[in-house]
Amino acid sequence: MTAALRPAVPDDLDAIMVLEQASFPTDAWSPRMMRDELASPHGRYLVLVSDGVVAGYAGLRAPSGAHDGDIQTIAVAAASRGHGWGRMLLCALIDEAVRRGVRDLFLEVRADNPVAQALYVSEGFREVGRRPRYYQPDDVDAIVMQADLTRREARRTPEEWTGRAEDRPDPARDVQNSGVLHADLPSGGEE
Ligand SMILES: CC(C)(COP(=O)(O)OP(=O)(O)OC[C@H]1O[C@@H](n2cnc3c(N)ncnc32)[C@H](O)[C@@H]1OP(=O)(O)O)[C@@H](O)C(=O)NCCC(=O)NCCS
Repeated sequence: MTAALRPAVPDDLDAIMVLEQASFPTDAWSPRMMRDELASPHGRYLVLVSDGVVAGYAGLRAPSGAHDGDIQTIAVAAASRGHGWGRMLLCALIDEAVRRGVRDLFLEVRADNPVAQALYVSEGFREVGRRPRYYQPDDVDAIVMQADLTRREARRTPEEWTGRAEDRPDPARDVQNSGVLHADLPSGGEE
């Protein structure tokens, strides 16, 4: 199984929403919110395509001229997890953030999502705060994480991030991959 990344286009909305609703069952974004995100000039969304099917997506918000950026969301289809595709999406967004001049990259992750937290820590994010009971209706804390990009260099363009699935997933890795809320969307304008 191979996968490749490309920038998301408006026609990807339906496929992204299928993954969104499956990955974030209690707090999925609406199609309208996602459509606005895909169209925003202040960010970059990528889709992961495997065997011609959109099997993952991830989004960055990094307005021009700002030195802060946010990983807005990331998800890989359940059947495609554990193959390194989530890391590929995250690394591609980090590269994009570096190209946009982001120095501090932030994200929020549910306290009950050890899988995503492990991924973020392994790519240089560290906890810088907590938002108690941030995720509703589930009443789960948000962990705020930050990565310092000042010494990082962009390695590849999205199209250069391709990969072949490794011999994973390992059935012994049975950590529950609970749904995770992604970043708050601003009600209007930029964050
Ligand atoms: C989080 C998510 C995007 C990771 O995608 P993925 O393709 O499965 O992740 P990868 O295969 O690239 O693995 C990256 C790292 O995640 C962690 N990880 C992945 N699967 C894991 C598992 N079953 N148990 C424990 N850690 C795991 C590991 O740290 C792994 O690195 P390693 O393989 O070097 O040990 C995916 O699980 C997902 O879509 N989850 C639902 C949505 C979600 O929670 N999004 C995060 C929003 S904050």
